[in-house]
Amino acid sequence: MTKAAEIKERKPIRHIAFIMDGNGRWAKKRGLPREQGHQFGVKAFRRVLEHCRERGIPVVTVYAFSTENWKRPEKEVRSIIRLMDRYLSDFEKNMESYALRLRFMGDKTPFDEKMRQKMEKLEKDSVHYKRILNIGFNYGGRDEIVHACNALIAQGAVQVTEQELSDALYTAGCPDPDLIIRTGGDLRISNFLLWQAAYAELYFTDVLWPDFGPAELDAALEEFYTRQRRYGGV
Ligand code: FPP
Repeated sequence: MTKAAEIKERKPIRHIAFIMDGNGRWAKKRGLPREQGHQFGVKAFRRVLEHCRERGIPVVTVYAFSTENWKRPEKEVRSIIRLMDRYLSDFEKNMESYALRLRFMGDKTPFDEKMRQKMEKLEKDSVHYKRILNIGFNYGGRDEIVHACNALIAQGAVQVTEQELSDALYTAGCPDPDLIIRTGGDLRISNFLLWQAAYAELYFTDVLWPDFGPAELDAALEEFYTRQRRYGGV
């Protein structure tokens, strides 16, 4: 059996999420500006997304820009937004080959009108694809929970169930992540998928995001399969 077939045979991963950390340090090590680290970060993102497809993983979530990232120098913020804009243009042109349902997690209002419209149009136009890509962009887990609560209150809710809250999150309809991978060596969750991560397996690696690729992802999947998930049972 090939490695790909063997990995698919085991309990299927329904949702994988990535904290793509380490672009800045990757650039610094090479004497490059941080912005270039993010450019190589996009290349890594494309490789990893493709590899998730090869491994049959139907939902991928990435943390591209957090609610806290606005504190970065304006030049860097602008470069991340520009990279996203370029990615979206390419997505729009080649939607058939991307074959992904695109969903943004986060409040779109701080982005300019053109960008917002582009994001919303792509969400609408890709709605029929089965595989899902959730992109956290101006995303924060706490902000997401507050946003969900306010939406439920606005609908008249006085009390809510876990299911109702889950259904009001940006990831509504997606299974919770089985595995969350953080690159870049830090051992924290940084306000990512706080609600959805309740039973996720966490995998941390020192590899910097631009160096993360198929081999590193397979190593994480291997480790995932060695873990026993008990969901609070025995
Ligand atoms: C964390 O590395 C990375 C980010 C804050 C941005 C990630 C963005 C991308 C990979 C581009 C997103 C675009 C698309 C199209 C998905 P860091 O800058 O915090 O690195 P450091 O910890 O080494 O400073």
